[in-house]
Formats: sequence, structure tokens, C-alpha cells
Amino acid sequence: MAAIKILPDIYSVGVVDWNVRNFHGHTYTTQRGSSYNAYLIIDEKITLIDTVQEAFAQELINNIKEIIPLEKIDYIITNHIESDHSGALPEIMALCPKAKILGTAKCQEGLYKHYYKNWDFQVVKTNDQLKLGRRTLSFIEAPMIHWPDSMFTYCPQDALLMPNDAFGQHFASSSRFDDQVDQCVLMEESKKYYANILWPLGAVILKKIQEVQKLNIPIKIIAPSHGVIWRNDPAKIINAYISWAKGQTENKVVVVYETMWGSTEKMARKIVEGIASCGTEVKLYDIAQSDRTEVITQMLTAKGFIFGSSTHDNDMLPNIAAFLEIVKGLKPKARKVGFFGSYGWAGGATKEMQELLKDSAVEQVIPDLSFKYVPDPLELSSCFDFGAKFAQGLK
Ligand code: FEO
Repeated sequence: MAAIKILPDIYSVGVVDWNVRNFHGHTYTTQRGSSYNAYLIIDEKITLIDTVQEAFAQELINNIKEIIPLEKIDYIITNHIESDHSGALPEIMALCPKAKILGTAKCQEGLYKHYYKNWDFQVVKTNDQLKLGRRTLSFIEAPMIHWPDSMFTYCPQDALLMPNDAFGQHFASSSRFDDQVDQCVLMEESKKYYANILWPLGAVILKKIQEVQKLNIPIKIIAPSHGVIWRNDPAKIINAYISWAKGQTENKVVVVYETMWGSTEKMARKIVEGIASCGTEVKLYDIAQSDRTEVITQMLTAKGFIFGSSTHDNDMLPNIAAFLEIVKGLKPKARKVGFFGSYGWAGGATKEMQELLKDSAVEQVIPDLSFKYVPDPLELSSCFDFGAKFAQGLK
């Protein structure tokens, strides 16, 4: 995509990655692609905000060249060192040797550990200001949103916040603004991004939003480092983040299972019927067939989770084990959980699933349900009751 003017003298010069389907080492499936956004401010001092992934360095360079020769860049603001935003920095720095990089102290340390270059670097802290001419930039350190080096950059003259990963979406689009895309897709991708990357950081995010709100700075535009720019309704995504960070949930249950010969699946389907009979929304996923990123997105706002597995070697099956490791890492809080599964001669799956989540802030509200071999009609009726009882306990 070519450079696009987003405000007078401010350009979006980043790139759209239409084909990326896995992100963060295959922990996140990006079925709608992504973008690596970078912004160029033309003023007495010319400033580039972030770069792009290394593979797209030439496209970024071409976009900047449409506007100014690269050697004219005075400052490069590095809001975040992760490779999708700093990967093109070595190529850019080779073409604009007089440029100074600005970022947090952790950014300086992290950039060196990525690229081993002694670039001219200025450490900035919250409330530090950088005069560009007509415009000024100020900085807000945002450690652990989502890396220790993370920072937001704010331009008061345009009420423009550039928070890097925060408020982003893995969403490739030829449109650059929120009002130009389907709103359901936009919020779905925003929620997916929050659930799969930011979920464990809710307390930090809430505190940072409150801190920024106390600064009483107007925010008319949020230009994140992935996806589209929020210019129509930035409050929409801020309010969504507040709700997700507070752990606000719906009367909804997500049932995730893995089955060996179909018995655990029979149990799962009856449990779902029991939940639905109470008027509670329920989603069912065979994790061996499902997109984990999508399942986690559904779990973000669900009040209850039920996990099922057949027993194999006194343990759960491998796909549900891998999934529960991810769930454990997301540190869900104040959710109700239950476990079920079928076994042959010796059980073990439900106990192992419980064990995996024992240090998580989730509450098991119903005893495990396990049946030998294939469940008979009476046992299936117990599965229905298990689901109904679990759903009633959520109300
Ligand atoms: Fe988009 Fe944390 O990198």
C-alpha cells in the first residue's frame, strides 16, 4: 500500500501483510492478515514513528520516499522493540544516519540486544516532550502493554495517540480508518487481539487507561501499529478495553473437549444441551479440529468454561493439554469451570486437567463427570443434568 495522508503533514507509511496467517510463533492465527503501521510527521524536524517487519523494509522505504528523501529524517520514535515494528530499523538507519532514535530505557536495552548497533539514542520518560516545530510529541511509558519497553506517543496539536500494539487488530485492509470497514469484523478482530495477546495484562491496562484519562488529554484519533486507525469513534475501543480489562462477562459457557473414539464427544453434546436448556449461550469446540485463537476469543467474555478429554495413559489427550497450557498462561480470573471425560479401565484425564489449572483463579463449581467406555442413556442424562446444573450456577 502506498503512503496515505491521515492528517495535514502526517502520513501512514506502513505496510499491509495480506498473507500472514500465523503470528507470535504460531500462537495466534491471523486469518484476516495484518498490517505493520508506521507514521511520518513532516515538520521542522521530520519524524518517523515505528517501522515495520524486516521483510517489508523496502516497501516502507518506498512509501517514505514518496514524501521525503530518507536522509531528511531527524527522529525515529520506537514505541516498541518487537520485530514486527523494529525489524526494518537497521535498513532505515543505514539510509538516514543522522537520525536519532527515541524510546524508553528498556527500549534502548532491548534494541541493542536485537541488533547490536550503537545508534544515537535518547531515552524518554512519561511527560517528556519533543518539539518538532509546529507540533510537539509527548511520551507515556506503558510497560507490559505488552512488553517492558512499550510506550505510547501523543501529539496534542492533533489529539492523536499512537499507542503501538494497544487498540490494534490483526486485520489487513485496503482501508485505513475505522469508519471504512465492517464494524462487526473490526470489533471481532479487536477482541481477538485483546484475548490472545493482552488478556493476562488486564490490571496493567486498566491502570494505564485510568492514568491517561487523569492526564485529561483529548484523544480524537488512535493510530495503532496494527490494523485500522480509530478516527470515527476512539471511545468505542477504549470502552471495550475497559470492559475486557475489568473481566466483564456474559451468561455464556464455552465447552472445549478432545475425544478419542467419540464417547467424550457424546458427553460434550449432552452437556451442551443441558446448558442451552437453561437459556444460557453455549459454544462447543473439539479442540483437535478448532482454531485455538478463535476459541480463546470466545472465552474472553464467557462466565464459564467446561473442559473435557478422553483418558489416554492416565492423562488427557495432547491437543487439550496444549490448549489448557495456553489457558493457564492467559490467567483467567473469576471464571467457573467444570471437567468431564470418558475412560477405559483407569481414568485420569479430569484429574490432570484440574491439576493443570489448580493455580489459576478459576473456581470448580461442580464435581468432575467421568464414565467408563461408551456412555449409556442414563449416563447421558447425567451429562445433560451436569450442563444444566453448571449453567444454573452461573446465574
Ligand atoms: Fe505488534 Fe508486540 O508487536
